Amino acid sequence: MADYYLYIKYLHVTCVVVSITLFLLRSTWTFQGSPMLSSPWARTVPHYVDTTLLAAAILLTIIIHQYPLQAPWLTAKVSGLLAHILFGLVFFHYKGSWAVRKAALALSLLSFSYIVAVALTRDPLVFG
Ligand code: HEM
Repeated sequence: MADYYLYIKYLHVTCVVVSITLFLLRSTWTFQGSPMLSSPWARTVPHYVDTTLLAAAILLTIIIHQYPLQAPWLTAKVSGLLAHILFGLVFFHYKGSWAVRKAALALSLLSFSYIVAVALTRDPLVFG
């Protein structure tokens, strides 16, 4: 595989690590009711990181000619990503019971772990 493919993959994986780190940091601040959560950088930087993560993902799919709805492992990754985002939205923005919000956080983290497992195995059932 061409060198630039590896560089884009490193960019993608670096964004994955930064993205989950910021997600966990924002989760901690949510539990603490910290004002850091509404600081300008906390409201913008995660979006830049996630946009770069997704842009790199799209480039990778174009280079390897495999796409969601055509390659099951990529369909699984996009589904997992949607679940991660939706459960994350419930956790961060739903103002109801903490039980619901904590369940949403657990499901969002589970979805993220599923995406990583699918990425490593290229198998929606993650058996490799
Ligand atoms: C939060 C979301 C995502 C996470 C956590 C994630 C995670 C990863 C990881 C850990 C790898 C490295 C796998 C390895 O080293 O072999 C990877 C590779 C890759 N990801 Fe993602 N990914 C995400 C979203 C996406 C999306 C939405 C797509 C495309 C629709 C995508 C497409 C790819 C491709 C094509 C590779 C390269 C696979 C290879 O060369 O073996 N990723 N991803």
